[in-house]
Amino acid sequence: MDALLRPELFDFHGVCMSHIFTDNWVKIQNFQARPDDILIATYPKAGTTWVSYILDLLYFGETHPERQTSLPIFERVPFLEITIPQLAAGTDLVDNLPTSPRLIKTHLPVQLLPKSFWEQNCRIVYVARNAKDNAVSYFHFDRMNQIQPEPGDWSSYLERFMEGRTVFGSWYDHVNGWWEKKQSVSKLHYMFFEDMVENTGREIDKLCSFLGVTPRAEKKEQIRGAVQFDNMKKDNMANYTMVQFMDSKVSPFMRKGKVGDWKNHFTVAQSERFDKDYLKKMKNPTLRFRTEL
Ligand code: A3P
Repeated sequence: MDALLRPELFDFHGVCMSHIFTDNWVKIQNFQARPDDILIATYPKAGTTWVSYILDLLYFGETHPERQTSLPIFERVPFLEITIPQLAAGTDLVDNLPTSPRLIKTHLPVQLLPKSFWEQNCRIVYVARNAKDNAVSYFHFDRMNQIQPEPGDWSSYLERFMEGRTVFGSWYDHVNGWWEKKQSVSKLHYMFFEDMVENTGREIDKLCSFLGVTPRAEKKEQIRGAVQFDNMKKDNMANYTMVQFMDSKVSPFMRKGKVGDWKNHFTVAQSERFDKDYLKKMKNPTLRFRTEL
């Protein structure tokens, strides 16, 4: 386990990565997707767990209710590229999933996604979150998660975030790369964390129509209630408290779940510098984020 702690970042095909997500690369690239697989793709801390939970409840909440009380979310929706010795690799967890469809999580930038997902024309749900809140959330996550690189203090972390020197690389490249892909791939649903906070029910409706599922209104309402922040925060199957290398006392995984928490972290000078740099990197006028509601 010690060898895993606080890994170094390195350049991997032009993207900053840690070895935890590249050690199993041959298997990852050769991963065989199935046509009914559903992929949840995100930059880390954009709401992956939230959307994973919604999809798991939509598909299996009624047929397999025991999943909710006995299987942590990371077993229900395995993380494709993770490899931790002693624990099963993500690719093996996916290969051993008994469910249909299989729900799969990835943080890979679009250009590194195994090609079989495109060949099989799988449905993909991409979740994006505004850069400022995403950076804050990632900073606290790196503090509490011992298998992430040492985050250092907030101001140096923010500089590195702006330079794309975080695991899974540049936020800017990630959200733009997937956005561009969406323009040519119809089975890609691009959604925003901020919209989920604003109106979870509406976003569940959009997800259902994208997935082609038609749950009863009561079921949708039940799911909406179950995935509220306070409920997921106290749910040990969703809040990552049982993961040995994550220390919830340093910062809980279910930390705040808000839009605009960046205001409690950025100084005025940091915010101005960030905004200026943002304009240079985010040239596509069709991709718009909200930093407050
Ligand atoms: P904060 O750190 O800002 O609180 P991921 O699952 O991609 O790692 O994202 C984690 C972020 O999503 C955390 O953000 C977490 O609190 C937030 N989150 C998870 N479930 C949520 C929910 N049900 N409602 C609102 N935010 C949620």
